[in-house]
Formats: sequence, structure tokens, C-alpha cells
Amino acid sequence: MAIKFGRPLEPKVRVVPVKSEARAKEAPALDLTTRPRRNRRTDWARRLVREHVLTPDDLIWPVFLTDGAGKVPVESMPGVERLSLDEVVRAAERAVHLSIPVIALFPYTDPALRDADGSEALNAENLVCRAIRAIKARVPDVGILCDVALDPYTSHGHDGLLRDGVILNDETVAVLVEQALVQAEAGCDIIAPSDMMDGRVGAIRTALDANGYTDVQIMAYTAKYASAFYGPFRDAVGSSVTLTGDKRTYQMDPGNCDEALREAELDIAEGADMIMVKPGLPYLDVLSRIKDEFGMPTFAYQVSGEYSMIMAAAQNGWLDGEKAMMESLIAFKRAGADGVLTYFAPRAAEKLNKQS
Ligand code: PBG
Repeated sequence: MAIKFGRPLEPKVRVVPVKSEARAKEAPALDLTTRPRRNRRTDWARRLVREHVLTPDDLIWPVFLTDGAGKVPVESMPGVERLSLDEVVRAAERAVHLSIPVIALFPYTDPALRDADGSEALNAENLVCRAIRAIKARVPDVGILCDVALDPYTSHGHDGLLRDGVILNDETVAVLVEQALVQAEAGCDIIAPSDMMDGRVGAIRTALDANGYTDVQIMAYTAKYASAFYGPFRDAVGSSVTLTGDKRTYQMDPGNCDEALREAELDIAEGADMIMVKPGLPYLDVLSRIKDEFGMPTFAYQVSGEYSMIMAAAQNGWLDGEKAMMESLIAFKRAGADGVLTYFAPRAAEKLNKQS
């Protein structure tokens, strides 16, 4: 599929020239000591005073996996494809080439392998584990991050165990601990619990340490909101068809911000090395407060719906996709993020590398 991205817009409004010559002469000079525009006048001056910059080192690239061959386009995410094992190794090579430090792996699990308890998550030969091993064997210099949650594996699409309409907390944590160990065993560098169960970071840290994985990092999905912006991701991993109900009993309420600070405090106390806010742009206030309060390595996830909104508008010629991409990414840095998980990662890195 040809992707229109960053097509220059046709100017729709004509600027009518005013009879400016005469007016300009009449206008009285303002007696201004400070003229902020002086620092914006030239490209070099703008670069000189720029407060925040984006580099490829700030990017984490989420990729989707498929058991089949080649690449399978994700319709609701133009430009994003599910990748076979061969292709994901190629993507990892591309990440290294572009100086993207980490790729994040998300499996599309064969529906026949999904069950009520998500047991495929614990299969040491599942798609994610095979991808980790394939990448580690061929591309040892890229970091690998894996989600810990059951939603790609459960027949009901929830992140945890469901009994009589309720997501069980402690029972789910016991399974997530096993999932984390299976991924660490396969060679995953960063375990990222995205399930929002209480106490899971501590339980996973304890189990990793007890099994000799003291160097495996944890990036906690700390403030993960129950969001409509995950829609295209659920298409990509095949859980939009399976999901029954919503995730509001475990993901956070979009009306809350103080609660995110309490979640952050817990995750840090339980041993998180890095914390994350998700979604991204609609929650920059949360990101900013968490970063200010704790000074932890703090990440934002520019989620699938945010990506697709920009792509859809760009494909319609309604905005310049490339500029919107770069502007959205610098916004995360400005709000205090140390890095961003974004489907734009390879495209943004390519652009940044060309500039330098
Ligand atoms: C799974 C998970 C989700 C995302 C990341 N991990 C979806 C969800 O919680 O329903 C969303 C990422 C995106 O939308 O790009 N727990």
C-alpha cells in the first residue's frame, strides 16, 4: 500500500496583501526592551536556544509479530505490519542501524492457541520467545522489551484471569510472574508489565532475582489509563474481536492524576527501574507531574490510536504527517519524558539521522 505521508498541503486561503507600505510607515515604533522574536529570527538562533531535542536514542520501537511468512499490514495502522520471525530480525538490524536502542515485541497469537487462562503466555516456545531468541542470536546489540499481560493469549481478551465476570488480582499476578520468567529465560532485557494488577512489579522483581535474573530490567506501565486510543493495537494483536467488556476495573480512570502519583510511588518501591505513562499526548500532565515528583527514568507510550490519527489525517492531506510526527515527539521531551515508545520510531530516526 502506498502511504501518503508528509504531502505538502495546497494553500486554501489566499493572503490578501494589505496596503502595507503606507501603514508600515505610519506605525509608531514600540518602546520594547525585550523582543522575544530576536531569538527566533534565524535558524541558527533557534537552534542555539532550543530547550529540548529529540534523538534516535529516545525511541523505543514497538513491533507486531506473526507466525506466518513475510509481512501482514495492520489495516487500522497505515504503514505498520505484523512481522514474521525473519522480518523481525531484519527490523532489529534496522533499529541498530538507526541507533534506536530498544524494540518492543507484541505477538498476534493464533486464535486456536488462545484460551480462558492465556496458557500460551507460559509456553517457552511461543511466538514472542522465538522472536527474542532469533533476535538475540543475530542482533545482540539491540535491547528487547516485552509486555507482561495475558491479553494476546486469552479467549476473552483481558489482561488477567477472569472468573464470573471479575478479573482476579493475586491469581493473575502468579501467572504474570511465570510469564516474566519465561521471557527472561528466552533473553528479554526489559520486562514491561502492562496489566495494571496490584503488586505485580514487586512479585516479578522477587521472582527474577530468585532465579538469577538480577540484571533484567523492569519498565512498569505505571499510569496506564482505560483508553479508547488502544483500538488499533487490539486489531493488531487480534484482541479487539475477543475482548468482552472493557478494562476499567484495572486500567486507570481518565479523570485521575493524583492516583498516577500513588501508582508511581508503589512501582518504584516495588523495584521498577523505569516507569511509563500511557497513552501519550492526552496525558502529558500526568507525565510531567510524575517526572517532577520522582525524577525516575520516565517514558511515554504514544499509542496506536495516536499514531493512526496522525496517519489518517496525513493520508487525507489534512495535515503534514512528517511535521506532526516530529512535533508530537518533541512534546514528550518537553513534558519530561526520557524516551517514547512510538510506531513512528524508524521514520523519526531516519529523519533525525539525516539531519545530523
Ligand atoms: C496490553 C497492551 C495494550 C497496549 C500495550 N499493551 C492494549 C490494552 O491494554 O488493551 C496498547 C498499545 C497501543 O495502543 O499502541 N496490555
